[in-house]
Amino acid sequence: MYGGTTVEYRLDPNDNWRIDLDDIASKMDDSVRLLVLINPNNPTGNVATPDEIDALLDIVRDYPQCTIVSDEIYDGLDFTGQMCSTASRADNAPVITLNGVSKVYFAPGWRIGYMAWHDPEGRLSLVRDGVERLLRSRLCASTPAQHGYLAGLTDEHGWLEGHRSRVKERLDYCMKRIEDIDGLECETPGGAFYMFVRITDERADSDKQWVLDVLYQHHVLVVPGTGFSTEYGAGHFRMVCLPPIETLAEAFNRIEKFLGD
Ligand SMILES: Cc1ncc(COP(=O)(O)O)c(C=O)c1O
Repeated sequence: MYGGTTVEYRLDPNDNWRIDLDDIASKMDDSVRLLVLINPNNPTGNVATPDEIDALLDIVRDYPQCTIVSDEIYDGLDFTGQMCSTASRADNAPVITLNGVSKVYFAPGWRIGYMAWHDPEGRLSLVRDGVERLLRSRLCASTPAQHGYLAGLTDEHGWLEGHRSRVKERLDYCMKRIEDIDGLECETPGGAFYMFVRITDERADSDKQWVLDVLYQHHVLVVPGTGFSTEYGAGHFRMVCLPPIETLAEAFNRIEKFLGD
């Protein structure tokens, strides 16, 4: 509505999709208002290290008009032990943290999340006022969902460990299957529940056609990489490792058959 445009920054496809900080630095200027970080990342599963977060904050320090939006909705699904919240390392730079109940607590139907504002100098006070007006006007999560999420956040949540290890077990199973299939390759995800798989099969014309062929011929649904970025996602597809191992096994058997046909 106000003429804003998005500029994509590069993630390194050969280094676990690590954030390319040089690429970000080269694309920064005074017109950049928001820098969006998704950590742990969807679709790649990359988890930024504290050093990388600090380097990102260093870059933003030179651009006082810029706010970091840090989407940390997969924070409890970190298998690297490195996950840290961007705002926890920020000094003056404003950071809006996004989070929600749908991923870590496996409750997407509850439709509740939150924004946490780190803005020690009040640079965003007008924006925050605008957001609060919007919240008051008609959007509202249901009261039971608010109490439920609050309990999830504040009560003891050692029980999440069982969920986390189940996701990790399924992720490891998927990675092993991908490793054994000719025509596919994947960097090891450090968190979340996705794999961003490279299609190395030379017969594939485009990731989109590949995905449609697997869907129509073998009824396995994955997401084309170009749906995430035409520039950086081409030649990949995203898959989810949440289904039970028997379902994942069947999906991989079918993909293997497709590639062998
Ligand atoms: C990075 C990220 N943020 C936010 C969401 C939105 O989650 P929800 O609308 O269920 O709260 C998703 C869902 O896929 C996501 O991957």
